[in-house]
This record gives sequence, structure tokens and C-alpha cells, in this order.
Amino acid sequence: MTPTRTAPATADVIVIGGGAAGLMCARVAGLRGRRVRVIEHANRCGKKILMSGGGRCNFTNSGTTAANFISGNPHFCKSALARYTPQHFIEMVERHGIAYHEKELGQLFCDDSSKQIVKMLLDECADAGVRIDTQCSVESIERIDDGFRVRTTLGELRAPALVVATGGLSIPSMGATGFGYELARQFGHTVLPTRAGLVPLTLSGKHQERLADLSGVALPITAHCNGREFSNFMLITHRGVSGPSILQISSYWNLGDALHLDLLPQGDAFEILKEQRSRRPAAELRTTLGELFPKRFAERLCDIGFTSRPMRQFNDPELRVIAAQLQQWPLIASGTEGYRTAEVTLGGVDTDELSSSTMQSKRVPGLYFIGEVVDVTGWLGGYNFQWAWASGHAAGSAV
Ligand code: FDA
Repeated sequence: MTPTRTAPATADVIVIGGGAAGLMCARVAGLRGRRVRVIEHANRCGKKILMSGGGRCNFTNSGTTAANFISGNPHFCKSALARYTPQHFIEMVERHGIAYHEKELGQLFCDDSSKQIVKMLLDECADAGVRIDTQCSVESIERIDDGFRVRTTLGELRAPALVVATGGLSIPSMGATGFGYELARQFGHTVLPTRAGLVPLTLSGKHQERLADLSGVALPITAHCNGREFSNFMLITHRGVSGPSILQISSYWNLGDALHLDLLPQGDAFEILKEQRSRRPAAELRTTLGELFPKRFAERLCDIGFTSRPMRQFNDPELRVIAAQLQQWPLIASGTEGYRTAEVTLGGVDTDELSSSTMQSKRVPGLYFIGEVVDVTGWLGGYNFQWAWASGHAAGSAV
């Protein structure tokens, strides 16, 4: 008996990865009349969108500029970000009747649920005629004369354009894989070393022991590392430190780098202490610090750093020493919590080998890389989604 052969399905564009960037790219290409197929290996699209922003998706940042991104080429992201701005995404959100609010620092969140963002993108894709296959795994990808042949668990697909939107390595339990990086290497692309970003820092030995029982205590600080600084809350955890200021600085920190905290970012620590001394000269340093910091944290500062005595007994030079220590507190981190809890992956497909206006490979015509798989990583605060939307839009407009 001769085996039956079904002709491979053809499309104009195959998008691998139905996350933020992939869905945006598929929608834009579909609206341009392209026949688009999205291949998603998880059982549903947009899982990271669903879990983002504590379930409310910080879907963009109204103040997005190229300065909010880390990349081997800081100029690369400019073109895509300029052509698809936060306002463009906000217009779509409003068109879908999704209520949202600004939390702080330009961060926009859904009032209700991140499910609304996923539904919006899926509805947009459906209207644009995009076909999405979930629970579909890629077995192999080959370059053929007129494009790409993709063998999947649901059959063979061919298209002249292939978009890689498989994201980074963070949260492997959500379906993150190194697939995009492997594919990039398969096609001769350079992949810059990857590491976890926007990630809690761990402490070890005495540094951890000193803080471990304060787990849950939060305080405003400014974290400084490698010429960068971020002011926001720090949260003490069982394993080390987290909170927005720490997550932000983690993207600029490498093992061994000096990292210090200004524990009194609200002003000049010497002036603050001097004022406390003149207001309550009989109060112990311990009590004074207890008014400036959460009580348990102040107690610990005195246990490990300062000898407590009445404020009037400290002369100016002594207060200056305490102030300097409070504003230059060294944080000796032993590492990060890694991809298990990181929000993003730093590094990735080298932007030097991609077109900044279309995201197309300079090596392989028809091949595109978008979103987190590319060496463009945003700060905390909605910037990573804005990059996913903007790079997805750039490729979707070009394929
Ligand atoms: P994304 O990860 O969204 O999508 C990739 C898709 O490809 C996934 O659906 C995956 O299953 C699929 N895939 C992977 N390998 C595949 C394969 N071999 N075959 C088929 N499919 C494959 N950012 C922000 O701006 N605001 C926020 O509030 C948050 N919050 C947040 C919380 C948490 C817990 C995390 C982990 C991350 C965030 N982020 C964020 C970051 C943001 O989620 C991230 O930058 C974007 O989702 C990246 O979009 P991509 O489309 O590139 O990857």
C-alpha cells in the first residue's frame, strides 16, 4: 500500500511563541493580510502576561525611553520604541474597554485582571485571521529555497518568514526554554551570555544570618551599583533581599561587584541625626534609629554596627561616621535566586546581527527575532512588555 502524503501547510508567516511579542507580531501581520500561524508549546498563550504585575499586568510604562533598557547596543531599541509607543498600546487597551490606572512612576496596570490583556490580544489575532496552535512543539526547522520548513507535533508547515518569539529563560515552570537561543545559533547568530535579571539577591553566612529573622521587613532605600542607582522599597526575605530597588539594581550587578545601600534616601543622614539629637538629646541612638527605620531593623543595626548611647553623647564627627555608614551600607550578596524567580533574562540574540527597524536577521533573510529572546532588557515597571509590543509590531509590519 502506498503511504498517503498530506501536502505541508503553507503560510506567509510562522511565529514561534504565543507570548507578548509573538501575539503582537501575529496580529499586526494578520491585519496586513498575511496568513499567520502561531505555534505555542504550552497549553495556552500568554502565561507570563497572566502572572505579570501580581495578576494585574503592568502592561506598559508611559515614560518609556531607550534609557530604560539594557543592551549591548543601547541605540538598537530606539527605532521600534519610537514607532510603537505606550500610547499606541493604551489606545488598544481603551478600545477594548479595559480599565487601567497608573500606580507610580508611569507604570500602567489593569484595574481588574491581566486576563483582559491576553483576551484582548487573542481577540485581535482572531479578527486578523491569525491561526494559533497551542500544545504544538517544534521538532525541527530547516531553511529551504523559498523560506523555512518547520516540523511540528501537529504536522509540517512552510512559510517564507519565520519569527522567533520564544522569550527568555526566566520561570522555566511557565514554559520558558532556551529554544530561541539554540535556533539563533543554528542559523549562525551570536548569542550574548544570558543571566537572570530583575531578580532577588541572596546572602550567605553571617550576612544572611543577620537578616534572616527580619524576613518581611520592608524599607525605602537607594541601591547603588556600577554607577546606577534605584530608589524604592527593599524587602528582606528568608534568603536575602528583594523589592523593587533590589530587583532593578540586580540587572546591573554581577557576582563580586560592589553594591551599597543608602538606608536614609530621604535626606542628608548627618543633618537628620543632628536634628534628632537636638530634639531628643536624652534618647538612645537605638531609639532614634527606631524612629527612622522599622523597629526590628533599627535594633539589628545597633546589634551589628553601632554602639547605642544617648544622642547627646555623640559629637558631630561621630554622627558623621554613623551617617556615612547609613548612606553607604555595603550589601555583600552571594548571588541571585536565578531564573526560577527572575522576571527577565539579560543578554540574548546579539542586536548587531538584526535590523533595528524590522528585527530581521542580517544573516538569514526571512528570519526575525523579537521580544525577550533579543539582547534588549527593560527595567522593572512595564518596560519589558513595551519592548515586546514594539519589537512585535516592528516585525509584524515587515514580514
Ligand atoms: P514570553 O515569555 O511572553 O512568550 C514566549 C512564549 O513562547 C511563551 O508563551 C512560551 O511558552 C513560548 N515558547 C517557548 N519556547 C517555545 C517553543 N520551543 N515552541 C513553542 N513555543 C515556545 N514585564 C512587564 O513589562 N510588566 C510586568 O508586570 C511584568 N511582570 C512579570 C512577572 C513575572 C513573574 C515574570 C516572569 C515576568 C514579568 N515581566 C513583566 C516580563 C515579561 O513577562 C516578559 O518580558 C515578556 O513576557 C516577554 O515577552 P516575549 O513574548 O518575548 O516572551
